[in-house]
Amino acid sequence: MGLAQPSKLQSKTDADAKLLESKLIELRRYFHQNPELSNREFKTSEKIVAYLKALGLEVQYPVAKTGVVALLKGGKPGPVVALRADMDALPVTERNGLPFASKAVADFGGQQTGVMHACGHDAHMAMLLIAAEILVKHKAELKGTVKFIFQPAEEGAPADEWPGGAELMVKEGVLENPKVDAIFGLHIQSLLPSGQIAYRSGGLMASVDGVDIKVKGKGAHGATPWDSVDPIVVAAQIIQGLQTIVSRQTELTKAGAVVTIGSVHAGVRRNIIPETAMLEGTIRTFDDTMQKKVHEKIKLTAEKIAESAGASAEVNILVMYPATINHEELTRKMVPTLIRTAGEKNVVVTQPVTMAEDFSFYQRKVPGFFFFLGAYPAHLNLQTQPTHHTADFMIDEAAMLTGVKALVNLTLDYSEGWKK
Ligand code: NI
Repeated sequence: MGLAQPSKLQSKTDADAKLLESKLIELRRYFHQNPELSNREFKTSEKIVAYLKALGLEVQYPVAKTGVVALLKGGKPGPVVALRADMDALPVTERNGLPFASKAVADFGGQQTGVMHACGHDAHMAMLLIAAEILVKHKAELKGTVKFIFQPAEEGAPADEWPGGAELMVKEGVLENPKVDAIFGLHIQSLLPSGQIAYRSGGLMASVDGVDIKVKGKGAHGATPWDSVDPIVVAAQIIQGLQTIVSRQTELTKAGAVVTIGSVHAGVRRNIIPETAMLEGTIRTFDDTMQKKVHEKIKLTAEKIAESAGASAEVNILVMYPATINHEELTRKMVPTLIRTAGEKNVVVTQPVTMAEDFSFYQRKVPGFFFFLGAYPAHLNLQTQPTHHTADFMIDEAAMLTGVKALVNLTLDYSEGWKK
């Protein structure tokens, strides 16, 4: 599928991408200045719908609350390729001093906060819109159909609106009518050199699940602990016990795993032993069997430690995002396309990363390939470059051109090599 040489059509689409670069940057800055939180992407979707309609595309809105889906039918028979961009911003107050920095504020969980595209989803939308524009221009020569998916709430829907994002889009049938044969997506990565593409076959990004543990003991005066069943001490033992799940009970040579307790709450006063303690954490794995096993071990460890102290532990596991697993055959076939797009030295194999991405929901249904597009600004020091989800986050906009070409070329090469 991945062709060693660009086709005639691809020489044209590469040139189109270059011509549209200033429009690409303009679009990205529009989204950057108008960031909206998960499931609140109203102005964002309005802009996307208007743009896609102006291109003459069939547009479906809303999908999964604020999502947009557009369909491009090519002039020749072929497969259905889906391209996906996520749309939401984060409750972060921008601090990087950019002239087009966001001034937006919004309510997040009852608190006023700045809103910022601090993960690069603004760039994802801009790249996908320009890719759509290019493919529309050449639709007579296009084999098959392209489905453009603009997905809300990748960062997670508000708690009372769960499920959202990709999971809800799949539930609402985004991969059907027409049925998608393959899906592609990318993520800007501010810590990778600009224009570099990093990919991995198989497990690329971790699954993430939440865990809540409520330890119930018996309260007493702090002076007489023998009258209590101290839930704080039990919670501390549970936290220690959980550390052995990854280090002693998980086959780490197969794939990594992470268990993190990120929140501990108990008690109100130094001389009162409370009745309960609450722990909250996350679980990350790259393998479904391992994921199940870690869940079971957490339950067992917490319950039995609590029991040994005469307390009880209620363990509640919230299954959130599955692992992002790249389809091996599809990855192998498409890597030459990435190499041709970005240049051989700019395409590298990456280690798995322990962040999660809800692109995984599409990959559970159809073959999917997700990769990273490097975009760290060359004038910044890589060692001190602010990471994603922080107030100083910044990307090199020049990287987006490579992203557009990659999306277009993946579509064309996949369609070209498609056999029914
Ligand atoms: Ni992101």
